[in-house]
Amino acid sequence: MLGNFSYKNATKLYFGDDSLKYLNEELSKYGKNVQLIYGGGSIKKNGLYDEIVKILRDNGKNIIEDAGVMPNPTIEKLREGVHIARENKSDLLLAVGGGSCCDYAKAVSVSVNCDEDPWEKYFDRFEEPTCEILPVGCVLTMAGTGSEMNAGAVITNHAQKLKIGHVFGEEVMPKFSILNPKYTFSLPKRQMVAGIYDIFNHICEQYFSGEDDNTSDYIAEALMKSVVHSSLIAIEDPEDYEARSNIMWTATWALNTLISRGKSEDWMVHMLGQSAGAYTDATHGMTLSAVSLPYYRYIMPYGIKKFKRFAEEVWDICSEGKTDEQVAEEGLEAMENWMRKIGVAMSLSELGATEDMIDGITDGTIILEGGYKVLTKDEVREIIRKSM
Ligand code: NZQ
Ligand code: ZN
Repeated sequence: MLGNFSYKNATKLYFGDDSLKYLNEELSKYGKNVQLIYGGGSIKKNGLYDEIVKILRDNGKNIIEDAGVMPNPTIEKLREGVHIARENKSDLLLAVGGGSCCDYAKAVSVSVNCDEDPWEKYFDRFEEPTCEILPVGCVLTMAGTGSEMNAGAVITNHAQKLKIGHVFGEEVMPKFSILNPKYTFSLPKRQMVAGIYDIFNHICEQYFSGEDDNTSDYIAEALMKSVVHSSLIAIEDPEDYEARSNIMWTATWALNTLISRGKSEDWMVHMLGQSAGAYTDATHGMTLSAVSLPYYRYIMPYGIKKFKRFAEEVWDICSEGKTDEQVAEEGLEAMENWMRKIGVAMSLSELGATEDMIDGITDGTIILEGGYKVLTKDEVREIIRKSM
């Protein structure tokens, strides 16, 4: 049965190859001081930085530089961003980049006016903000996380070897996000496919939970088919606008909270992947692909009906004359073939994880209870071992 829920999506989205022009309109809503948040320099190489700086100047804004947001943003960088915002009295946090820049901007937004330590409050005690929240806007350059239209922020604490995500309330969602698929053309292929697998797995995390017959599962299946279809075009021709735009839009829908409404969710692949990420600092989507098959093969018997449905509906596996287990396994084989074809990481050792990290990754894995099997610590260790 579909559970009771509320649904509101607070982000205004501008999509398409002319979407940057709407930044002018959005900027008119906020004060003079714009904190321009970006990463390690890709936007300087592809020219987007210059375009944005021009728009900010034309709109009479003070530009406050906040560069160097690393993939998997750290707590130290978050503290630096908070300092920059306080010193310069930032009125708007404008993130230009991938999920790391968007997440970081959201984490800064809830910390600038907060007296407590952000790590302890938001990523250890998981409290909600009680202070004034700075507005965030995003110009997205990488499709994957869905951060452009959700309230999640993931921060890494290397000292504690923890990578933790907090899904805040709707007031933390970006006020606006600008999505131009052409900005994703300059992504290296490895980042593109990591993003594609991240999208696919976000849908899986919400799909592989619960036994009910609900609308969400039908939407999820369509989104999965779309991302598989477009990924095969994009790996052959990364500048195929139709494929890249479908991927970008699917990423947003995969994690803008719509398909999770009224149903339970799993998220164990993310918990396993994030813990591995804290040890390896590897690309997010790759940590997910590395642990996915050992995890799904392990839980399959506990959710056999859904895995059979996944095989039939997403991978067109014919079930005639086969047991449910055979059909379900063929579905996972088809998924594995697709993963190998697009070229995602298939093991944690490819990402730099070593045997001596297994216990630490196990300890850092938060065990959630929404999936088909609530794992024990020993089962987590076994899955990590199989992922090596
Ligand atoms: O830093 P720059 O130079 O910009 O380079 C980035 C970075 O090295 C590069 N890149 C991005 N757009 C580019 C580009 N290079 C060339 N051309 C472009 N157009 O790609 C690299 C990765 O960027 P990043 O932002 O780190 O990737 P992604 O979008 O995958 O974000 C990953 C972060 O988001 C978190 C992850 O844990 C990770 O910390 N997540 C956030 C979620 C959320 N808010 O809901 C959910 C996700 O599951 C995820 O956990
Ligand atoms: Zn993810």
